Amino acid sequence: MPQITLTNVTKRWKGFYGVDDLSMVIDDNAFVTLLGPSGCGKTTTLRMIAGLETPTSGRITIGDEVMFDSAAGIDVPPNRRHVGFLFQNYALWPNMTVYQNIAFGLENDKTYTKEMIKARVDEVADIVKIGSFLKRYPSELSGGQQQRVAIARTLAPKPAVLFMDEPLSNLDAKLRLEMRSELQRLHIDTGATFVYVTHDQMEAMTLATRICLMDNGVLQQYDAPLGVYHHPVNLFSADFVGNPAINFCNATGTQQGREVSLKMLGDKAMQFTPSDEVQIAKWYLTQATADATTAETSATRKALKGYVEKENKESNFKYRVARSGELGGTPQEFSDSENDFVIGVRPEFVEIRDTGAFEAEIYSSMPTGMETTVKLQIGEFLITGVIFGPAIYTIGQRVRFDIDGDGIMLFSRKNGRLIATGSLRAA
Ligand SMILES: Nc1ncnc2c1ncn2[C@@H]1O[C@H](COP(=O)(O)OP(=O)(O)OP(=O)(O)O)[C@@H](O)[C@H]1O
Ligand SMILES: [Mg+2]
Repeated sequence: MPQITLTNVTKRWKGFYGVDDLSMVIDDNAFVTLLGPSGCGKTTTLRMIAGLETPTSGRITIGDEVMFDSAAGIDVPPNRRHVGFLFQNYALWPNMTVYQNIAFGLENDKTYTKEMIKARVDEVADIVKIGSFLKRYPSELSGGQQQRVAIARTLAPKPAVLFMDEPLSNLDAKLRLEMRSELQRLHIDTGATFVYVTHDQMEAMTLATRICLMDNGVLQQYDAPLGVYHHPVNLFSADFVGNPAINFCNATGTQQGREVSLKMLGDKAMQFTPSDEVQIAKWYLTQATADATTAETSATRKALKGYVEKENKESNFKYRVARSGELGGTPQEFSDSENDFVIGVRPEFVEIRDTGAFEAEIYSSMPTGMETTVKLQIGEFLITGVIFGPAIYTIGQRVRFDIDGDGIMLFSRKNGRLIATGSLRAA
């Protein structure tokens, strides 16, 4: 079973960089999701690995075979890369039965006898549980059943690598959920490497062994789902993953010893204690060294013959601070000061209790039975919390709350990167 390696893969159209200098290793038997906002380069990345799109430069290997290498002039055609596809528009042949649809890809393969085809169709039909529909036509199936036939058709030739581009996007919410768990089973049962494109962070979180999170053609973070969730490298990653979204609060302060003394949420004095000791002044120096190396690499690249100036606007991501009466929050500017921070609080770290450090008013309360999503108003700011269990609050009710737990994030407001995770208490 193969491992897929991308080395400095770039795809540009004139000055527009759809994918910019992407390097990553997709481990054998992994389930990797390519995640990011619309237009960030997910489909382009997948198509390049599959051979449907020619990279401008870089190198792609699947197993120990070089599939593409711009420098060596290698470009293996898609049908020789031994990969399977499943696209959003999976179009089954309407005039063929389910059996014929699944068998279709195998009939061109001379190594398959009629008996072998039948055995293989039965086998994959069993995996996706459509064994009893083999004689039906696609029009006689529900949407979810059709989708499963499409999956069976893709699986039939035993691809060692399976590419899927938003394969569930035209299913209803309930069916999506069911198909997700089927896909997870399928991944285990087939032992294949799955590369899966989605813009749905929930889907990426629940399915993947690793998430490749992209923005504007540039890789932001390549990590296990919970790694991205608990240790996002920057404000973009923190914001993109998690539902309800993470709370961002501007904070100003200085470090004394291990602790950082902060003013936040309308001048409330707080102490942030990093879980792993970090000296913020030193951290900034390390960042500067890393940035200088990046700048050097980029200058070397620009000096190369044939380099085309990148015209993409830099990422237009801005983090937002929630305020009452402002839908979606207010976009924030970055700061020049190393004393300016952004505190990131996942909603599950908001703990309503009588002894809480913050005083707030219930702005809204949405119980689902299993948990309640509340918005708490502190002055002009809104903080979203998720309270587990059947809690009932009335709008306007005064409550106290803490920001509890050791997963609170301290970001630099200068470069948007994560400095540390830790805990927060009233000073
Ligand atoms: N043939 C092309 N010529 C010029 N630009 C292109 C071409 N194909 C794609 N792009 C651009 O490259 C960028 C990445 O496209 P891509 O299809 O990979 O996005 P995506 O992440 O799959 O988005 P979505 O979630 O909307 O499907 C987009 O900004 C797109 O407009
Ligand atoms: Mg796409």
